[in-house]
Amino acid sequence: MKIFVIGSKGQLGWELCRRGKDRGFDILGLDLPEFDITHPSQVQSQVNGKGIFLVINASAYTAVDQAETQEELAFKVNCDGPAYLASSCARAKVPLFHISTDYVFDGTKKTPYKETDPVCPLGVYGKSKADGDERVRTLLKEHIIIRTAWLYGVHGNNFVRTMLRLGRAQEELRVVCDQYGCPTFAGDLADALLTLAGSLIKGEDIAWGTYHFCGKGATTWHGFAKMIFELAGKHTSLRLKELHAITADQYPMPAKRPVMSALDCSLIEKRFGISPRPWQEVLKNIMPHLLSDDH
Ligand SMILES: NC(=O)c1ccc[n+]([C@@H]2O[C@H](COP(=O)([O-])OP(=O)(O)OC[C@H]3O[C@@H](n4cnc5c(N)ncnc54)[C@H](OP(=O)(O)O)[C@@H]3O)[C@@H](O)[C@H]2O)c1
Repeated sequence: MKIFVIGSKGQLGWELCRRGKDRGFDILGLDLPEFDITHPSQVQSQVNGKGIFLVINASAYTAVDQAETQEELAFKVNCDGPAYLASSCARAKVPLFHISTDYVFDGTKKTPYKETDPVCPLGVYGKSKADGDERVRTLLKEHIIIRTAWLYGVHGNNFVRTMLRLGRAQEELRVVCDQYGCPTFAGDLADALLTLAGSLIKGEDIAWGTYHFCGKGATTWHGFAKMIFELAGKHTSLRLKELHAITADQYPMPAKRPVMSALDCSLIEKRFGISPRPWQEVLKNIMPHLLSDDH
């Protein structure tokens, strides 16, 4: 009963492979250059491969700002790729777990987004992900789409790593304080997906559909950075002189981001008993690993 993990070198894919193997699952992890989700023949032959029981797609084009000028590539990876996957899975009768993003929402809601809220992406990345999700829903009934947010892990590039790197090089930093979201540790998301995989393997009924999973509680990028430096200061000599709170208008980026993209995770909790941990508690636990891996 093999689980095929796509995007195995990314933040989430790496955690899925590591934690999946620790749980005793038979994991086949592939990524670029040996496997390209935008090549339909490669997708079909791997999904049809012997003994594939479940596909988890953790691959994506995740460069939110670059996507504004690389629209074709973003749509190829985030929309066409998942469509090839979903149709191959349908033919092979294999379920698919696919990952999506809080950036499918426009951020105008005042309370955390529910799975049923209408999507309205602000940028190319969000549009490409929203379209990819829709293709998966249309082509394959046996799918789980998990929307997550503000992902960071011990492997790969992310906001935590960027803050630590900049904090070592500069005395003062300016970080946006008027965008709200939920920091999510990639290891926790991997565990949630593997718990669902375990239920499937046991033959339990799965309520297919779209779910939200992210760290519990919302903060701003500035609040996230403040916590990063507080924790880093406890473990290392890193002391930032000043962390300035600025508005998104003062830090223009190519892609527009939602002002509020917190996700309501009550459905995954209710249906599967999967409860996200408070983001501060997780970051506290993971910080020593992030620091020991940070060069
Ligand atoms: N990062 C976040 O803050 C965030 C927030 C919300 C949702 N998500 C979603 O969560 C999922 C996992 O994100 P992540 O942060 O783990 O992503 P990541 O670290 O960027 O990893 C994605 C992996 O996919 C690979 N990939 C790109 N194009 C591919 C292709 N054509 N065929 C096969 N593999 C390809 C990448 O390879 P290269 O590095 O060589 O391109 C990379 O190894 C994605 O669906 C993402 O949209 C992420």
